[in-house]
Amino acid sequence: QPVPVVAIDGTSASGKGTVASRVAAALGWHYLDSGALYRLTALAARRAAVGWDDEAAVAGIAANLDVDFAGGVTRLSGEDVGDAIRSEEISGGASRVAALPAVRAALLFRQRAFRRPPGLVADGRDMGAVVFPDSMTKVFLTASVEIRAERRHKQLIEKGIAASIAALLLDLRERDERDSQRCVAPMQQSADAELLDTTNLTIATAVAQVLDWVNKVS
Ligand code: C5P
Repeated sequence: QPVPVVAIDGTSASGKGTVASRVAAALGWHYLDSGALYRLTALAARRAAVGWDDEAAVAGIAANLDVDFAGGVTRLSGEDVGDAIRSEEISGGASRVAALPAVRAALLFRQRAFRRPPGLVADGRDMGAVVFPDSMTKVFLTASVEIRAERRHKQLIEKGIAASIAALLLDLRERDERDSQRCVAPMQQSADAELLDTTNLTIATAVAQVLDWVNKVS
């Protein structure tokens, strides 16, 4: 019996990370934040002064990333980079390196290694379509771009980081466009995925809906 996977894909800043990690906690399963791997790759490339379009060099960096997610802390070569990978600059870089086929190939096996008993909840753009096509439950989670910009704005302000809603809107639109137009593993709702629009939903309601779908098939 293969280890069950719940795939939660969707747009940037849609809340899928929060929903996915809470679903994982409720089920007592492992959690994979696949976007963090692309963000770590962008950060490591930046630190090595490698351009985000240098496919061979960035793929080499992705293949050799020294990462550790123990205890919910994201470490790159031992250093806590949880905040560094969430900056707007690295968010943009992540979506650039994610468009490179060799980088996606380098991260594929690393992502599949997270699949361990009793189960895995994975969040990203291509969890259901490419990385775990045999997922028991697939969810495509999104929200209007305006509400996503507002939520990101609130998060940044709470962290004491200055931000403008107008600039965040532009950034999110650009990233949506790049993530959905790229040739490899573009973000898209697959036919077998449930659509969850969280524009008017609380986190608790969204989590309950996903758990409901999971319980229906298990
Ligand atoms: O989900 P998150 O916003 O952290 O992802 C950062 C970037 O990594 C996204 O903009 C997307 O380009 C890329 N990504 C991806 N495939 C995934 C997860 C993230 O291409 N499975």
